[in-house]
Amino acid sequence: MSHFLIITFVFFSRFALTSQQILVSPITKDESTNLYTMLVYLKTPLQPSKLHLDLGSYLSWYDCARHYQSSSYKPVYSNSSLCTDLNPGIFSNCFNKPGPGCFNDSCSFFPENPVTRKIGIGELLIDKLALPTKKLGQLGPVSDFLFSCTDPNKYSRIYRGLAKGVKGLAALGRFNYSLPAQLSRTFSSPQIFAVCLPGSSKANGVALFNSPGPYYFSPGIDLSKSLIYTPLLQGPRGADTQIYYWYKSPDYYIGLTSIKVNGKVVPLNKTLLAIDELGSGGTKISTSRPYMVLQSSIFKALSDAFVRESTALNLTLINPVEPFHACYAAQGITNTRISSTVPIIDFVLQENNVFWRIFGSNSMVRITTNDVDAWCLGIIDGGPSPKTSIVIGGHQIEDNLLQFDLQLERLGFSSSLLLRSTSCSNFDFNSTKN
Ligand SMILES: *[C@@H]1O[C@H](CO)[C@@H](O)[C@H](O)[C@H]1NC(C)=O
Ligand SMILES: *[C@@H]1O[C@H](CO)[C@@H](O)[C@H](O)[C@H]1NC(C)=O
Ligand SMILES: *[C@@H]1O[C@H](CO)[C@@H](O)[C@H](O)[C@H]1NC(C)=O
Ligand SMILES: *[C@@H]1O[C@H](CO)[C@@H](O)[C@H](O)[C@H]1NC(C)=O
Ligand SMILES: *[C@@H]1O[C@H](CO)[C@@H](O)[C@H](O)[C@H]1NC(C)=O
Ligand SMILES: *[C@@H]1O[C@H](CO)[C@@H](O)[C@H](O)[C@H]1NC(C)=O
Repeated sequence: MSHFLIITFVFFSRFALTSQQILVSPITKDESTNLYTMLVYLKTPLQPSKLHLDLGSYLSWYDCARHYQSSSYKPVYSNSSLCTDLNPGIFSNCFNKPGPGCFNDSCSFFPENPVTRKIGIGELLIDKLALPTKKLGQLGPVSDFLFSCTDPNKYSRIYRGLAKGVKGLAALGRFNYSLPAQLSRTFSSPQIFAVCLPGSSKANGVALFNSPGPYYFSPGIDLSKSLIYTPLLQGPRGADTQIYYWYKSPDYYIGLTSIKVNGKVVPLNKTLLAIDELGSGGTKISTSRPYMVLQSSIFKALSDAFVRESTALNLTLINPVEPFHACYAAQGITNTRISSTVPIIDFVLQENNVFWRIFGSNSMVRITTNDVDAWCLGIIDGGPSPKTSIVIGGHQIEDNLLQFDLQLERLGFSSSLLLRSTSCSNFDFNSTKN
């Protein structure tokens, strides 16, 4: 009997391993918005589609207005178990020609723009999606990908604020039907994904789904080996969304406990660092904010501490360049030296010795116009009472690898890859070891 059990166990674990599928998607940075897009393939035949990458959205959405041609789409009816499980609360009828986004008795889901927080209308749709695998030229297909099929003709503002050419949104949030959740379920793979945002629009970063690692980046560095972990905290219901207040927050919160600048503790109001029962406060990560947004008192305390430390380093403060507050003459500071010439910021997490170190490449932003050439501290004043006290933005996580592990409920972070002589654009697609 015990032998029998062992044999079936081995059989099952082998089966589980072979059915896993690691999927890879290139991430690009948009120069004009400083936001990020990822590439997926959608419909039959598969069409490459650029989607806005958002870490805090429930469900992906896609432009179904014109030219939605596919031989594989299916509606989601209000009487389906999928609709019951999702419980989006609204159903719709349509009086136009039946087609994608136009069915009677269909299950609806409001798409939300995470930059402007504007809501559109959309019916749920199921169609084929695919992402590249590690095997060159091979795609990993998902036959029943669920998303909200939007009609920008009815509500064009849904695209405002997003990068040009974007056809919709890739929802990477914490939700049963987010893109990573659907990808893991389809391939019976661990619900673990990693995001590595590129530091410029000239080279691609990478998103990796269904893989706990290794993550090989040239020259032969496995980044999964050196990640530091911190628990992912669950935000309250409806923390930031305009509509789905009965769902748990899709955002990835982490437990920041203090901030240090060059090793010195920045005095902060600790109440603001915790998430209260109404969902205010706390620290989360967003790819829909180009720069870190801080509650006013935290913003002031961090700016002041940074300026104090930089004065000691002989950096020359100049007139601030909007929207930033602390700017320095770029003269004498080169791109490659920025990390070593400015104060170091540490985000201290669950313990004093667990911290996310932010070097100049992630704290400073280069501003060059006809009149100024400056490096500015890339943080924004979020006002006295924003919903979330600290929103870590895209610039702060560029060329850092972040691993979102929904099984162990933890975030793995690498800190700056530039200090390890690699970057997010160096993901080694060819390594057979990945
Ligand atoms: C659900 O609704 C659709 C469309 O109205 C209908 O075609 C289908 O038969 C219904 N299914 C069930 C199980 O009631
Ligand atoms: C929905 O039902 C209405 C009323 O029966 C009908 O006029 C309309 O054409 C239907 N729409 C679709 C998309 O089938
Ligand atoms: C998540 O989705 C799966 C598949 O549809 C479903 O079986 C499960 O009940 C859902 N879980 C939750 C918590 O909604
Ligand atoms: C700290 O922040 C909380 C929440 O906003 C506020 O109620 C409290 O007055 C603040 N404390 C101080 C000392 O400013
Ligand atoms: C700053 O400048 C002063 C005066 O020129 C010099 O003595 C000091 O060593 C400099 N400090 C640093 C950190 O470069
Ligand atoms: C990976 O392999 C492809 C195809 O064999 C090749 O074109 C490319 O140069 C390789 N890239 C690296 C970084 O070795």
